Amino acid sequence: MSSMTPFEPKNPIVKWVEYRLPIFSLVHGTLVAYPAPRNLNYWWNFGSLAGMMLVLQIVTGIVLAMHYTPHADLAFLSVERIMRDVNYGWLIRYLHSNGASFFFIAVYIHIFRGLYYGSYKAPREILWWLGLVILLLMMATAFMGYVLPWGQMSFWGATVITNLFSAIPGVGESIVTWLWGGFSVGNPTLNRFFSLHYLLPFVLVGVVILHIWALHEHGSNNPTGLDMKSRADQIPFHPYYTVKDLFGIGVFLIIFCLFVFYSPDMLGHPDNYTPADPLVTPPHIVPEWYFLPFYAILRAIPDKLGGVIAMFAAILILFVLPWLDTSRVRSARFRPIYKQLFWLLVIDVVALTYIGGKPPEGWFIVFGRVATAYYFLHFLVIMPLVGWFEQPKPLPKSIAESVLGNGQASTPAKEKA
Ligand code: HEM
Repeated sequence: MSSMTPFEPKNPIVKWVEYRLPIFSLVHGTLVAYPAPRNLNYWWNFGSLAGMMLVLQIVTGIVLAMHYTPHADLAFLSVERIMRDVNYGWLIRYLHSNGASFFFIAVYIHIFRGLYYGSYKAPREILWWLGLVILLLMMATAFMGYVLPWGQMSFWGATVITNLFSAIPGVGESIVTWLWGGFSVGNPTLNRFFSLHYLLPFVLVGVVILHIWALHEHGSNNPTGLDMKSRADQIPFHPYYTVKDLFGIGVFLIIFCLFVFYSPDMLGHPDNYTPADPLVTPPHIVPEWYFLPFYAILRAIPDKLGGVIAMFAAILILFVLPWLDTSRVRSARFRPIYKQLFWLLVIDVVALTYIGGKPPEGWFIVFGRVATAYYFLHFLVIMPLVGWFEQPKPLPKSIAESVLGNGQASTPAKEKA
């Protein structure tokens, strides 16, 4: 059924269940009848892609955990055993490690889509906040997952990042000892990271459900940023967006498979194929690519505590974005100045990613500081000012008008038939 009408089951078993637990109407309302704007473009595919990656990570992660041993003496060897001896172990592991990267690709594009089209603005602030909570949880999960193979980068990455908490005045050292469960990163650290790395994805599922709930309260935003006003602005989610999402999943999976099957270690670091050694520090300790912009911000501030605060502030600032953006127009499509500043921000974040992977010396230090300063300037100063002074382009009267032209608004295809 592909209309926006209420759910009316005919099957007696479905009716019986539905009367006691209205789960079929819930699924129907979410994935079939959900009234979506008729003009969503491909940037709206990335929410479902992120959802697919979360499921893939949980499924492959559970199989990996069947063969993995969370002990400092055995972890590295158990991963090697998965790669060599477990049937298709290499595939499960490469799906999971590259899956983490592709999960971040999907979510980062999803966030930038929101920034471009003003999806964080009223009434979607809580939806946006839930997204940011998801991002923080994803980062914690990915960080702890990277420690599990117990290679050199696992060990030294964990040491550098946990040590950041020592910058907190007074209690910092005690917090770090508490995090480690000892006096250095060691077996208790590995064990608790494994426990939390298994737990957090399920917490993520819970927050994603809240995220979708908040989304469905006011419906999706769209490229015009206009609210849906009439039936002419809407089409049912199924079949229009189920098919569009499936097409996107196909394209995304082809690119993902190119990495998994042809270049599975491209996004990783060769040092992690050397077992962890507390006595040998690698010359350059770098995190996975998806942490590099934050790593660059951390190192841009000469003071340790200042760096830690700036790094966390880079994400926390996004919580107040709905109020830092003072424009009355949502979509950058009608904001000539903001549109250009958006792309400048993209360039800035790409620059931070590049600098995060370079050693902190010479020009890289200067670059890192300029790019960090611009990041904060964009959100704290430029966004409020541009919102006040920019003259937006004239808005179409409705979503239907923006698609069909003036005075040609038609009813959805299904109803015409
Ligand atoms: C596990 C990670 C995530 C999943 C599975 C997820 C899922 C989804 C889905 C399925 C949609 C509807 C389709 C779409 O608009 O693309 C959506 C919308 C949205 N998400 Fe997420 N999301 C995730 C992370 C995030 C993050 C990190 C943010 C922001 C910080 C965010 C912000 C939003 C916003 C603002 C919308 C509404 C967009 C609009 O209607 O224009 N999401 N999300």
